[in-house]
Amino acid sequence: MGDYTDYARDSFETQGSAADVGKGQKKDVVFGLEEAMALNAVNYPVNDNEDTSVADPVVTAIDTTKAVVQLGRGLDIGTANLVSSFQDNTGNVNLKIQRNAFIDIDCDDYTKNMLTRLGVQYVVVNNRMVVVGDPAFELANIFNRDTRRPMKAGMISPDENDALPIEKMLLETLLGSPNQQGENCYFSVPAEPIDAEMNVVYHQGVFGGLLKGMGYDPKPLIEGHAVVFSELAEDDFTGIGISCGGGMFNVCVAYKSIPALSFSTTRGGDWIDRNVGSALGISSSRACGLKEKGVDLANPHGREEEAVEIYYRNLISYTLKNIKERFESSSSMPSFPEPVSIVCAGGTSMIGGFIEVFQQEFEKIQFPLEIKEIRLAEDPLYSVSKGCLVAALSESV
Ligand SMILES: Nc1ncnc2c1ncn2[C@@H]1O[C@H](COP(=O)(O)OP(=O)(O)OP(=O)(O)O)[C@@H](O)[C@H]1O
Ligand SMILES: [Mg+2]
Repeated sequence: MGDYTDYARDSFETQGSAADVGKGQKKDVVFGLEEAMALNAVNYPVNDNEDTSVADPVVTAIDTTKAVVQLGRGLDIGTANLVSSFQDNTGNVNLKIQRNAFIDIDCDDYTKNMLTRLGVQYVVVNNRMVVVGDPAFELANIFNRDTRRPMKAGMISPDENDALPIEKMLLETLLGSPNQQGENCYFSVPAEPIDAEMNVVYHQGVFGGLLKGMGYDPKPLIEGHAVVFSELAEDDFTGIGISCGGGMFNVCVAYKSIPALSFSTTRGGDWIDRNVGSALGISSSRACGLKEKGVDLANPHGREEEAVEIYYRNLISYTLKNIKERFESSSSMPSFPEPVSIVCAGGTSMIGGFIEVFQQEFEKIQFPLEIKEIRLAEDPLYSVSKGCLVAALSESV
């Protein structure tokens, strides 16, 4: 295992541009999820067997001014989760994750005391108490309500008036101030969606503005490209990265780190929840709970799990067909001399049997590229943030 700093330095010193990642010598990457816990960050388990009891529901900012860290931050801005990353001087990567959600509650003495007793941080806005991130999710369960979400289908939500101040609070909590004015912060943005009349210009501008206001130098990175950076180093950053998120699937086909094709679709985990919910006559939140509780897509039990499997299969097949169509209709596709890997990241890829079903659907179509392997990212929830960090470190050295 090599040192991550050296890795980034070796990879990028000749070009200094994220788009050229991968020309240098390749080494393994050392990631330290434990360090994030030590710094009181909130971590989701990377797999189902991990102990979740260490997760502290109180949002706590890392005072990075006191830590000895490398310049350059990674930030995954997702519909469901926000994930920040930085690297310390020993080469470990520290990751923090928060749900991209909030809840507002009537401001009375009883509730105020309860939140204080529970150690939940809140701010008072227009005489309402606002709680953001993971604690909002926990409170929503206590109050039997849904959280409000600042983003929808991968972008800042047009239906949520309070989205911007909430995102500002969440980013301040996750990132804190830069270690140096103008520190690089690479943040994920969706590729242009192929199935919706939205574009990413406003969304990208809003988050760029928030990060700039915090003192960072914001740099957007397409989400699927970030997966290529974090997962395909061994393959010279050539292959297909897919981020299977809550609001979207983001696809990037890259050749030697340069994106040859990238697009997004507005179908992701939320789409599955909505459809399973309406098929079974239950709420989307219940459908989401059912989906996350440990379904095996390769071996579904009962009507509910079968509904989850049906929609997953449909979503994977839809994604593969779109890659095929886009690939075949593009006039400027490089030729890939060797078979490439497909790597799936994002929370939606974490369900049991995902790769098996992906493989089955893949075999049903005549895929235009020779594929050597279809695999899951090492840490699916953190993959995009890690890829953003790779890009940030490459420019900060
Ligand atoms: N174990 C699990 N099984 C199935 N789905 C899961 C699991 N864990 C999380 N998810 C789903 O993953 C999704 C969130 O994934 P992720 O954090 O990658 O999305 P995001 O990056 O916030 O969204 P996007 O990139 O689409 O804007 C949610 O739909 C959630 O229900
Ligand atoms: Mg995402």
